[in-house]
Amino acid sequence: MSKEIKRILYGGDYNPNQWPKEIWKEDMRIFRDAHINSATVNVFSWAKIQPSEEVYDFSELDEIIEMLSKENYDIVLGTSTAALPAWMAKKYPEVERTDYEGRLHKYGQRHNACPNSPRFRQFAAALAGKLAERYGKNPHVKCWHISNEYGGACYCENCEKAFRVWLRKKYKTLEALNKAWNTEFWGHTLYDWEEIVVPNALSEGLWDGRSAFAGISIDYRRFNSDSMLQNYIDERDAIREFDKETVITTNLMGTYKELDYFKWAKEMDVVSWDNYPAYDTPWSLTAMCHDLMRGLKDKPFMLMEQTPSQQNWQPYNSLKRPGQMRAQSYQTIAHGADTIQFFQLRRSIGACEKFHGAVISHAGTKNTRVFRETQELGKELEMLSDTILGSRNEAQVGIVFDWDNYWGLEYTSGPSVDLKYVEQIHSYYEYFYERNIPINMVPTNANFNQYKIIVAPVLYMVKAGVKEALEEFVKNGGILVTTYMSGIVDQSDNVYLGGYPGTLRNLAGIWVEEIDALAPEQKNGVKTEGGKVFSCNLVCERIHLESAQSLGEYTEDFYAGEPAITLNYFGNGRVYYIGTQLSKNGKNEILDMVCKSGSVEPLVKNSDGLEIVCRRQGDKKLYFVMNFQDEEKKLPETFYGCHELLRDTYATSDWKLEKYQVCIFQI
Ligand code: GLA
Ligand code: ZN
Repeated sequence: MSKEIKRILYGGDYNPNQWPKEIWKEDMRIFRDAHINSATVNVFSWAKIQPSEEVYDFSELDEIIEMLSKENYDIVLGTSTAALPAWMAKKYPEVERTDYEGRLHKYGQRHNACPNSPRFRQFAAALAGKLAERYGKNPHVKCWHISNEYGGACYCENCEKAFRVWLRKKYKTLEALNKAWNTEFWGHTLYDWEEIVVPNALSEGLWDGRSAFAGISIDYRRFNSDSMLQNYIDERDAIREFDKETVITTNLMGTYKELDYFKWAKEMDVVSWDNYPAYDTPWSLTAMCHDLMRGLKDKPFMLMEQTPSQQNWQPYNSLKRPGQMRAQSYQTIAHGADTIQFFQLRRSIGACEKFHGAVISHAGTKNTRVFRETQELGKELEMLSDTILGSRNEAQVGIVFDWDNYWGLEYTSGPSVDLKYVEQIHSYYEYFYERNIPINMVPTNANFNQYKIIVAPVLYMVKAGVKEALEEFVKNGGILVTTYMSGIVDQSDNVYLGGYPGTLRNLAGIWVEEIDALAPEQKNGVKTEGGKVFSCNLVCERIHLESAQSLGEYTEDFYAGEPAITLNYFGNGRVYYIGTQLSKNGKNEILDMVCKSGSVEPLVKNSDGLEIVCRRQGDKKLYFVMNFQDEEKKLPETFYGCHELLRDTYATSDWKLEKYQVCIFQI
């Protein structure tokens, strides 16, 4: 891509189309004072730029782009296809979605198009092409933003037909499909492709949102993700006909369940995402989302949206406290972002987002706390731009994240409704976060060999090739940590026979006879070799040792004394298997052991609750030191005498960081 982005983009969603022209001038003046250098425009303007099937009208967008170009903005240009124009829904009702309950929707809301509607696809691609033809050569247009937050699902007849085509391609024969879905169960054998229906509330959907046939439902998720990805590709390819130089992205949503982002990222030039933590979201979870977004391409990403202060769509939309937005922005950059963009630059006057935070509030002035904080950060990012851009995060530990597993684990009926994929992954991520041990979030087909430790919690579904890759990794000296509910099913949710963890049995050197589920009020304990006892809950697997040794046994119930945690030497490496959900201190004990055996160490010793993240630029390292704790914290000794970039001075031993304070050291 020859149109490189050469500075940290600072700006965000901007909708001058919602305002009279006098305001535009005012905006430019105010944004300049905030060091805003970028605007994301045309995200929801389809009805404006295509008022009817035959007519396109770019006059207003021309003016917006011209104004921003004159002001030397780096423009992120939306394609506007995330909300249908009303005329289209009226004329072609099939562009609307049919929901899980089977109801065809009327016109309204957004993210509302059926991904398999040929009309929608054709209109969307045509519009993207027109936009690229008109604006692609503009040197200020630095990034295409296709649609917006793809998501949801459609269960209409078009989708049903397209699903059958997708299935034919995947399975070739009905015999293979029947086998994959295990349709002998309840006599659901299919004799004709036309007998296949979408798995919604009217068919295989169970009362609790799960599925009578997880195999079908997982395939439908894959299909739905692929369908929307195809929508993205339609527009991307239409843009590429006219513009070969501008990067193309769409804004993702962290651990969003519906779409397989690892697959999506392959089609995107750069990953961008929208970060909206709630007032009580743990900072470790936000950090994990950033690492996941960076991990999708193992490259820096764009922060496409965050609110300068408040949201509107959460149950409790608390203000970001003074300094919080800044600290959150640096956390984002620390984990690999090269842009900080807001939703939104000016607060709208009506509709459901009127209470959503913005750089310019309803007061319309610069005289607000939020504006001043935005301005302060803008000034700093301008100064840091050259130092940060192009730097990379590195890690010796990989945590596996996989959408098929996410779907599989949460569709399956039993053993416990409390098995939630993201929660499970995060509970392992948290350990490393709290110790400032860098993490890469990796897919199941990653090159594991570049890591010392791979952590694969609840690796319930083991797809083709994954077992072999893990065996190879461990054989060559790698350390694998895996847990209960791993190795159990294949890509169609059918069990690997012969005892759990099925296909990982040899690697783990154990077999699991039964999986007990513990209700929320129940718990068990694990007594380790050293005699410590830790509590555990959720599930308890009854493990038999084969080549593995026990590291801890259950203390209660009829399986008291049986192994709960095991270690197996395999080739030059080792496998830790954790058969129950350990309390935090129990998990810490085991993971301490794991890190010690892999010689993996925190970035900085004695960091006392500070978050510390490193980005490397050639032989220089940037350390972001951030305080998200309620108490003031002492600067770790490692940094005494080091150059701190924000204050442009050298740290001394009396430095302390208050809540939300940030230091950046270049070493
Ligand atoms: C999403 C959307 C934006 C806006 C914000 C509000 O991220 O992409 O258009 O609705 O939420 O938080
Ligand atoms: Zn549909």
